[in-house]
Amino acid sequence: MAKVTVSTLAKMKHAQNKITALTAYDASFAKLFYDNGVDIVLVGDSLGMVLQGADDTLAVTTDEIAYHTRCVRAGSKELFVVADMPFMSYANPQQSCDNAAKLMRAGANMVKLEGGEWLYETIQTLTQQGIPVCGHLGLTPQSVHVFGGFKIQGREQAQADKMVADAQALEQAGAQLLVIECIPSALAKRISEAVNIPVIGIGAGKDTDGQILVMHDLVGISAGYIPKFSKNYLAETGNMPEAVKQYCADVKSGTFPTSEHEFS
Ligand code: KIV
Ligand code: NA
Repeated sequence: MAKVTVSTLAKMKHAQNKITALTAYDASFAKLFYDNGVDIVLVGDSLGMVLQGADDTLAVTTDEIAYHTRCVRAGSKELFVVADMPFMSYANPQQSCDNAAKLMRAGANMVKLEGGEWLYETIQTLTQQGIPVCGHLGLTPQSVHVFGGFKIQGREQAQADKMVADAQALEQAGAQLLVIECIPSALAKRISEAVNIPVIGIGAGKDTDGQILVMHDLVGISAGYIPKFSKNYLAETGNMPEAVKQYCADVKSGTFPTSEHEFS
C-alpha cells in the first residue's frame, strides 16, 4: 500500500474515495491494520477505557499516549498515525506545543484535539511549528462530565449550527483532518460538505469522508457494551485479517455504516 500523507487524505476526499481508520495501541495490531488496508491508525485516548478499564478517558497522560504511539510506530514505518492529545494536555498554545512534540517524536504524523473555535490559536501555533492537527467535534469524550454522560450531540438546531461553524473555524486555523463523533447523520453530512478537509465519522452515519472505529468494537471485545454505531466484524468473518479487510471494503463501498448504526 502506498504511504498515506495529509495530501493523500485530501485527495481521497475530493475523489470520494472513503478513508478507513481504526484505533490501535500496539505494534502487532498496527501492522495487521496496515497490511489489510487501513488508511489511518489512531492512538486514541480511548485506551483509558479499553486498555486501562476506566469509565472515561480523563486519567490518560501524554506519556501514556507517547508510549503507545512508539509501540504503534514500531509495527509499521509507513502507517499514517494520529495520536490523541489527552485531557488537559492542550489548555494553552505553549503547553500544546510541548505535549504535541512528545507525540510527534514518539512517531505520530498528526495530533488530535477535542474542541471547537476556542482551539483556533492553538491549532494555528501547532501547524506553524510543523505539527499537523486533526480536530474532533460532537461527543468529545473528554467533556463527558460537562455533557452529563456519553450523549448524542448536535440534536438542537443552535448546537448543530455552532458545530458547523466550529468545523469551519478548525479548518481555517489549519486543521487538516476532522473527526466527528455521535451526531445525527444529517448534521454529519452538512459538516462534511461545509469544509474542504476530510471528515472521519464514528456514530455519524455514512455521509462523511471516512469512518473510524475503536478496534475493540470491531472485534466485539469491548469491556462493557458494544455501541450501537459499531459492528462486530470478527463474528462475521471468523479471523482478524478478514475482519479488517471486510471493514475496509464495507467503508469503501458505503456498505458500512447502515441506518441501523446511525443516529437521526
Ligand atoms: O480515542 C479514540 O479512540 C477516539 C476515536 C473514538 C475517534 O478519539
Ligand atoms: Na479520543
